[in-house]
Amino acid sequence: MIANGDIVDRESALSAESITGADGLMIGRGALGRPWILSEIETGKKPEFDLADLVLEHLDLMLDYYGLHGLKVARKHIAWYAKGKKGLAEFCQKVYVETDLKKVKLMIKDFFEGEG
Ligand SMILES: Cc1cc2nc3c(=O)[nH]c(=O)nc-3n(C[C@H](O)[C@H](O)[C@H](O)COP(=O)(O)O)c2cc1C
Repeated sequence: MIANGDIVDRESALSAESITGADGLMIGRGALGRPWILSEIETGKKPEFDLADLVLEHLDLMLDYYGLHGLKVARKHIAWYAKGKKGLAEFCQKVYVETDLKKVKLMIKDFFEGEG
């Protein structure tokens, strides 16, 4: 049996596990823009990474999969990564209309640089 719904961190994962006694957990919305929470839940600590590199890698994977259309598909993911960060609205306004891939990548690098 798999339990899911509103699992967003280690605390809610442990709680869902103990309440349901499920064999496994499934996480949907909690992983959007925060894919590392799977590892965080398992190990109890946030893995170390550079957020700019992670977002760029995610974008590249989407481009590999969808071709250039991947840029459009990736926009909502980029916005999820940016959620809660200062300058989000301005960044999203720019990144949502930019069609030049090189410029989008530079915007991502600038916005997420030093975050992790
Ligand atoms: C991006 C995304 C894609 C999903 N795709 C499916 C799907 O293909 N089939 C399905 O039964 N549920 C799908 N769901 C629903 C989830 O399995 C889950 O029931 C729901 O999101 C509640 O869990 P959460 O609180 O962890 O998001 C999806 C949810 C999200 C956020």
